[in-house]
Amino acid sequence: MAREVTHEDRGPAILDESDMGDDDLIYVCQCGLSDSKPLCDGSHNATADEADGVVYKYENDDADGERREIDEIAYEGE
Ligand code: FES
Repeated sequence: MAREVTHEDRGPAILDESDMGDDDLIYVCQCGLSDSKPLCDGSHNATADEADGVVYKYENDDADGERREIDEIAYEGE
């Protein structure tokens, strides 16, 4: 399982204690689908049934968007 996600930010996000959850931890999105990047918002639940070895694209990089299989991740300039 993998997914193609378009990122437009060009710099880092600064996190502080206000980003901590009730358990004093900061959950950083690694699935690429969060609407609250860089923080996890639970959107990763949409990836739970992704199959190993398949690459996906979610419409508008939205966990609620249509999910389709793609041949491979497209790299800019290729
Ligand atoms: S890891 Fe991406 S929303 Fe949770």
